[in-house]
Amino acid sequence: MEISFYDYHPEPADIRTEVLAGLAQAEKNIPPKFFYDEQGSQLFDAICELPEYYPTRTEISILRQYGAEMTELLGHDVVLIELGSGSSLKIRTLLEALRPRVYVPVDISREHLLNSAERLAAAFPTLEVRAACADYSRPFELPLTDSDQPRAAFFPGSSVGNFEPQEAEAFLHRVGTILGPGGHLLVGVDLRKPEDILHAAYNDAQGITAAFNLNLLERINRELEGTFDPIAFHHSAFFNPQDSRIEMHLISNAPQQVQVAGEAFSFSEGESIHTECSYKYSIPDFQSLARRAGFTPVQVWTDAESLFSVHGMRWTGET
Ligand code: AVJ
Repeated sequence: MEISFYDYHPEPADIRTEVLAGLAQAEKNIPPKFFYDEQGSQLFDAICELPEYYPTRTEISILRQYGAEMTELLGHDVVLIELGSGSSLKIRTLLEALRPRVYVPVDISREHLLNSAERLAAAFPTLEVRAACADYSRPFELPLTDSDQPRAAFFPGSSVGNFEPQEAEAFLHRVGTILGPGGHLLVGVDLRKPEDILHAAYNDAQGITAAFNLNLLERINRELEGTFDPIAFHHSAFFNPQDSRIEMHLISNAPQQVQVAGEAFSFSEGESIHTECSYKYSIPDFQSLARRAGFTPVQVWTDAESLFSVHGMRWTGET
């Protein structure tokens, strides 16, 4: 079946405004969604195959092992929305078990979305694919009609960990209103675990995570007439136990001035740009967050080592 493509034009206005606003803060930051230009999306795919980066392969093994149970929860006749579909690696495993009617991948990266939607449609010839280019971190449109029921959303990869817990709650609530009563959510959540495992996953030996982080500066150079010298910054990632999150930063190696979109920003030696938070939850902590958002936790699947979890939840809208 042919794919249909819906472009809700999430960029480029946002990147300019948000990067300039982030760099103007006392504690400089850039939102992690801007990692995912073409290069960044490819680097992220490479991260997913690193020996140290356990989340991707662990989540896929959970989907493979429990796909039948997930199908029982969601039902075959579902319209499946995937938030942040990227290269659609995980969805294949789920689609094989679930065989939904319609698949709606949503991603901010246009080319990446189109390529993977096309490959997917070829692999699942009877599946109707409606690809939607949108920024799901804001209120977003979807190519859905009233007859597209029942609905389910798949939010894999622990991308939910990129939100502050408060924002995650608000986001899940918005997803719930899209799903409607009786709609289901399958959400992948990285679990809190010993620090050495977490540290290695974000400081890989090959330096791919560092390249992924530093690509932000190169992207700003390419798209916003930035003058960053990427070798004048270095990658830093560590676990913050207080907030139960991995933090990624880009640290300035020396005092320097940089231009972005005609504006000047100065950096002292050791000054950081905070580029990502990746929250790690316990199962009960994530379930309470989801309850506050209007979901009822129904089932949770995990691996033998309790590295990663996939939560099956039903939308009620009641908190
Ligand atoms: C896509 C947000 C789940 O937090 O592990 C991987 C992104 N950053 N390595 C994560 C990421 C550095 C990833 N998420």
